Amino acid sequence: MLIIGHRGASGKAPENTLASFEKAIRMGVKMVELDVHQCASGELVVIHDEKINRTTTEKGFVAEKTLEELKRADAGEGEKIPALREVLNLVNRRAKINIELKGAGVAVPTSALLNEYRENHGWTTEDFCISSFDHQQLRQFRKLDNTTKIGILYDRKPHGFVELSQVLHATSVNISLRTVNPQWVKMIHASSLEVWVYTVNKLSDFNRLKQMGVDAVFTNYPEKFLDEGA
Ligand code: G3P
Ligand code: MG
Repeated sequence: MLIIGHRGASGKAPENTLASFEKAIRMGVKMVELDVHQCASGELVVIHDEKINRTTTEKGFVAEKTLEELKRADAGEGEKIPALREVLNLVNRRAKINIELKGAGVAVPTSALLNEYRENHGWTTEDFCISSFDHQQLRQFRKLDNTTKIGILYDRKPHGFVELSQVLHATSVNISLRTVNPQWVKMIHASSLEVWVYTVNKLSDFNRLKQMGVDAVFTNYPEKFLDEGA
């Protein structure tokens, strides 16, 4: 099973920071997941929420602050909110990256950035996977990029995944640990799609999902499962 470092190794370092991604890579993950918004000065930045309140020392909306303003906030243990570009430079192809499109309007700049890294920095299509709960953004991304892998995120039942996965040429359906069940796993596999499950932090859940034939898990504690013959 593929073990994906959720927001890096966010159980052991401040989520979505360079320290968190470095830690996950040193633990041996083959893929990290991160969340992307666009800030007021146009850069793509890596942060989960639309506001910086929960994860940093400052307050306010990401979309209303410039990168310079965001950099003044402490994202934990002296870490800063990273630009997506900084994360790509740090990871430097040592792990694949699942980029979750969170904020409004990030499909277009994300597609442009991936093209830049493929054309100028030796990255390949296989190094990336795009996902989102916002299926409109996935459609928009696919119009601009017809090769990068896409995972369709659902927080509840994956209604309409068969049709949508055909439109998007998706490779996985990414569902919550709270809702996953053996029937859904069978149903998704029957459409030749993988099943990725978030967020799995307990060994008992991990073993249950392995029994179901789940293909990948997002975890805050990659070190727990990397030793489990995953
Ligand atoms: O992509 C899996 C997971 O990250 C989706 O939920 O809220 O943690 O971004 P969230
Ligand atoms: Mg996420």
